[in-house]
Amino acid sequence: MTIAHPHAGDRCVDPDDVGTNPTDNPRFDEIAASRLNRRRLLGWGVGTAGSALLAACGGGGGGGSGAFLPAAPATAAPAPSGNVDTSPAATPPAAPRLGFDAVAKSLADVVAVPAGYTASVLYRLGDPIAAEVPAYRNDGSDEAATYDRRAGDHHDGMTFFGIDASDRWDPAHATRGLLVMNHESMTQLFLHPAGRTVSGTGNAAMRTVADEVQREFYLHGVSVIEVERRDGSWRYRQDSRFNRRIHAVTEMVLSGPAAGTGDMRTRYSPDGTRTRGTVNNCANGATPWGTYLTCEENWAGYFRRIGAIDDPQRSPRELASFQRYGVRGVGGSSRLWATPRPDTADHLYGRWNAEIAGATATDDYRNVANTYGWVVEIDPFDPSGTPKKRTALGRFGHEGACLGPVVPGKPLVWYMGDDAQNEYVYKFVSARAWDPADVGAGMVAGDKYMDEGRLYAARFNEDGSGDWLELGLGINGITAASKAYAFADAADVLINARLAADAAGATKMDRPEWTAVHPKNGEIYLTLTNSTARSAGGANITNAANPRAYTEGGPSLSSGNPNGHIVRFADAGGEPDAVRFAWDVYLFGARSNAGPNVNLSELDADNDFSSPDGLWFSQASPGLLWLQTDDSKYTDVTNCMMLAALPGRVGDGGAKRIANASYVLTDNDEVVGHVAEQKTFVGKPPGADGLRRFLVGPVECEITGVAESGDGRALFVNIQHPGEDTSSLRDPAAFTSHWPDGGNARPRSATVVITRDDGGVIGL
Ligand code: FEO
Ligand code: CA
Ligand code: CA
Ligand code: CA
Repeated sequence: MTIAHPHAGDRCVDPDDVGTNPTDNPRFDEIAASRLNRRRLLGWGVGTAGSALLAACGGGGGGGSGAFLPAAPATAAPAPSGNVDTSPAATPPAAPRLGFDAVAKSLADVVAVPAGYTASVLYRLGDPIAAEVPAYRNDGSDEAATYDRRAGDHHDGMTFFGIDASDRWDPAHATRGLLVMNHESMTQLFLHPAGRTVSGTGNAAMRTVADEVQREFYLHGVSVIEVERRDGSWRYRQDSRFNRRIHAVTEMVLSGPAAGTGDMRTRYSPDGTRTRGTVNNCANGATPWGTYLTCEENWAGYFRRIGAIDDPQRSPRELASFQRYGVRGVGGSSRLWATPRPDTADHLYGRWNAEIAGATATDDYRNVANTYGWVVEIDPFDPSGTPKKRTALGRFGHEGACLGPVVPGKPLVWYMGDDAQNEYVYKFVSARAWDPADVGAGMVAGDKYMDEGRLYAARFNEDGSGDWLELGLGINGITAASKAYAFADAADVLINARLAADAAGATKMDRPEWTAVHPKNGEIYLTLTNSTARSAGGANITNAANPRAYTEGGPSLSSGNPNGHIVRFADAGGEPDAVRFAWDVYLFGARSNAGPNVNLSELDADNDFSSPDGLWFSQASPGLLWLQTDDSKYTDVTNCMMLAALPGRVGDGGAKRIANASYVLTDNDEVVGHVAEQKTFVGKPPGADGLRRFLVGPVECEITGVAESGDGRALFVNIQHPGEDTSSLRDPAAFTSHWPDGGNARPRSATVVITRDDGGVIGL
């Protein structure tokens, strides 16, 4: 029997909604939540986010600061991240002001931008990037072998590399550049003639049409495309020599301390120095020498490893690692890439099977999952170059890698979120000090700065201070005698960085997404998108940096921290290798009509939002922050959005006590309320001049990925998976979105370019 599974394994459960951190926070998972009787819960009084309970515990006011604050930055103006500034004493420009009227919340199937702006579609799923490739038919019939020269699906993080007339990197270039972007995942329903074709169920499920799997390999990864403004409008050049797709089959070099170790050996690479492909490339990053970083986020679910078959053959260390990273892809819940038969001569399908199948590690792919979960460096100026997975930056569910202040003579630093419930935020500090002579040196510079350094995980203290805990063998409890995991050597600490951060005592966060570094003061912003992990009553459900626990309605009843928040922190002295920092919560996501213990940033109808994810500071307009949402909690009112912000700095608000209202479910399914105070540090409310909605996307999309031309007069934004909840191809008129092509077309992820009708700078 053949059955079609519309986008099964891709959307129904967002993998980063499911945590794999077993350490001792109480959890109240979604299975228990489904037992809740909504009426009874509302009757009990927490349906409006606990505002009614505020009086019961004495109010949520507070005052005073008391937070540890760092000394002033060592240099007056750290260089913008992603750019190169060798004159740190440059005079800061005048304070920017937002210069557009807010866009209203919307459920329409359009990209809405402010009056006086135009959003144009630039690069859609399937668009050809080589001269010989025909236009995309978008009906599932396009030839699979052409997809390695077409736009991938689920556009995500993105960087614009300006190029001059000599084809060299020129960050300030305004009208021509390489746009490099991630393609995180796919909506399988719209990729094939009738959804994906599968036979069998559970662990016996198999993909029976190899062409479909080949398409999916190619639709993941990264695009490099040349874009230019000509005759007043932006387009990509279909025949550029720079155009390139990197995907799930592309050869990659493993680099840094974990490369060439026993845990990286596979049949494909017996010496453990190579692998093939990159997947689930979420956010991105850049280097000061002009290369692109792509980050592997929810990679674990791509591998087949059936516990009943494989677990008995594995060591306790291997089992602990699989458990901590969630490598347990079975049956219909995975993409089933390991299943087409027969396999190819170079085992393109079998390499997704992470089970022990041969005599030794070089006879099978038992270690293949260790070759994923990294930050990958790509030189977009070298179309035939081999990407490198930089193992010194640690292995986890990498969301992005944001470059910190770039100062000659000082180390380089990248800040990185690990997006799953209760995971951590990390930083990598290079061993070598930055030398501006390395600009343009490509992967050689990567070898110099990214293969040797120190990895840290963050602990946020209750008093507003923080500590960077170094993850190194023999320190911070990371030893062969560690309780949960016996670390073998320095490479093992990197391959199992989550376990190392557990041992060191890092702070569990509400799903760390993007990081962004303020180009004027070097402070770091971190989106924490949302979490259900703080919904249970009792002790220790919140901490000062993840302080809210409440319940609200919406598309469904949600408990924990449904709307997310944005933490920011300042490394002590502005030094990249500081081991202390000060933090506060810059912004809390909330509905504008939520109670005062939820809408702590006093959002109004023009700037309220939920589930922050994408986050990026403009380089052309220093101080202007773009904030994007990936939301499932406010979608009864509005589609996902992008906002412009002008944040202040750490400590511009003050200490506050939040009255949280959470609940426990007894064995008898009785809901018992729990009210607890949590102290935190809240930034100054942004107000209408500090945060304003700039864009609302089409139905069921995520807004993610943002980049600008060198002059800030063109803004590139990605619209990911419009119409993703469509359940059937039977009636095209019933697709939940037809964006961007309209009519009865299948929806497509796409890049839009936004310009101002008067040619001015975007946002100001
Ligand atoms: Fe791919 Fe965490 O967003
Ligand atoms: Ca994201
Ligand atoms: Ca997200
Ligand atoms: Ca998404």
